[in-house]
Amino acid sequence: MLQVEGVSAGYGKFNILNNISIKVEDGTTVIMVGSNGSGKSTLLKVISGVVKPAGGAIYFDGQRIDGQAPHQIVELGIAFVPEGGRIFPELSVYENLKMGSYTARARKEFQTTLQEVFQLFPLLEKRRRQVSGSLSGGERQMLSIARALMSKPKLIMLDEPSSGLAPKIVAKVFEFVETIKAQGYSILMVEQNVLQAVGLADYAYLLSTGNLVYQGERQEFLKNPEIKVSYLGI
Ligand SMILES: Nc1ncnc2c1ncn2[C@@H]1O[C@H](COP(=O)(O)OP(=O)(O)OP(=O)(O)O)[C@@H](O)[C@H]1O
Ligand SMILES: [Mg+2]
Repeated sequence: MLQVEGVSAGYGKFNILNNISIKVEDGTTVIMVGSNGSGKSTLLKVISGVVKPAGGAIYFDGQRIDGQAPHQIVELGIAFVPEGGRIFPELSVYENLKMGSYTARARKEFQTTLQEVFQLFPLLEKRRRQVSGSLSGGERQMLSIARALMSKPKLIMLDEPSSGLAPKIVAKVFEFVETIKAQGYSILMVEQNVLQAVGLADYAYLLSTGNLVYQGERQEFLKNPEIKVSYLGI
């Protein structure tokens, strides 16, 4: 479904990503781990069209997408939830969800999608009139994920959805991810809570200073000595 082939990218003359190749198969969950500054967010920004790659190619559903504008990429079915979520705190829950369905494809089906999203996350329906800025951290992350679903994506990219949240809430956020995974969405997730994230993943990649240094199925990944020492503390 998503295929990143030999992508390099950076900011101005600073090169960050070197020759990165990853793929996300239809209906699978892939996680990307790596230390701070290794380029994880940059890679998601490149895929979503926010940062232009300097080399390589990106294919989605067989179509080349690198070089397309972010809104075109959303239209093709890739939703991106940046770190900290992407909601407008001064708007209500409902208004935020409405804004998530701005693509031509999603707008036509707004009412149906809204009902589907409320079924997945009933709490949001209860709070539909509440100003989003007054939601708890976990609820806000739920809204960010729900807002991404409103664009009717096939692939959802999540950048550290559990970042900055208390441990009890972190578990909740992984439940939200589990919920959307069970719906059959493909997911590409960057996470520092490796043990919990790998539990959801079909496949995992390790990024180190802009280079992919390890990849594997969930079980192999957990056995890797570098992962054990750096990310699992064992
Ligand atoms: N807009 C920017 N301009 C210049 N350099 C940037 C910009 N954004 C990120 N960088 C640099 O690119 C490198 C990779 O950043 P990136 O945000 O992709 O890392 P990350 O793996 O997501 O880190 P973290 O775990 O801290 O979120 C860092 O050295 C960062 O300082
Ligand atoms: Mg990051």
